[in-house]
Amino acid sequence: MQTVREVGALRAAVAALRGDGGGIALVPTMGALHAGHLALIAEASRHAGHVVASIFVNPTQFGPNEDFEAYPRREAEDAATLKAAGCALLWAPSLEAMYPSGFATTVSVAGVSEELDGAARPGHFEGVATVVAKLLNQVRPDVAVFGEKDWQQLALIRRMARDLDLGVEIVGLPTVREADGLALSSRNAYLDAEQRHRRRRFPRR
Ligand code: PAF
Repeated sequence: MQTVREVGALRAAVAALRGDGGGIALVPTMGALHAGHLALIAEASRHAGHVVASIFVNPTQFGPNEDFEAYPRREAEDAATLKAAGCALLWAPSLEAMYPSGFATTVSVAGVSEELDGAARPGHFEGVATVVAKLLNQVRPDVAVFGEKDWQQLALIRRMARDLDLGVEIVGLPTVREADGLALSSRNAYLDAEQRHRRRRFPRR
């Protein structure tokens, strides 16, 4: 599995995969991979001959008091996991490759992004929509797979893909949970025993 960090190298690697036939599926992630991500990769491989995963901890979707600095980063471990899962390519852009100096464009999806998480986290969904639009334009996959765990995010991405004629099929995958019902999330690493215990109650509501 090749890892690429610049758009030119990405385009060349994706073109080579396309030449082999079978289509391209993209699984966008922020890394710190767990079994939920592996389920996305497995689903992606059911839709296309080649799976491309991306790892990019996107600063624009974190609020000023959120955990951008603390967000778990372990790319070497993640790359080994992706390789073992059969990924063909890892797109791990540098910050400069994703947001070059002078970057000035924001994608905003009205309606679906305004309530719930959108109301609680101003700017979060603009950050998500912008980076996902970029990832889809960079890789130009046939299919992209996202978890239903982030339900509002999935609805927003579906809306954006339709509205902007992105020409990609957006596939949603049901949430993968721990045995106690807790949804798998990279941020579960932050929870102590008491917080885990309290969060187990959410799926039962
Ligand atoms: O769900 C995530 O991990 C992120 O929001 C995404 C879709 C990779 C965009 O940064």
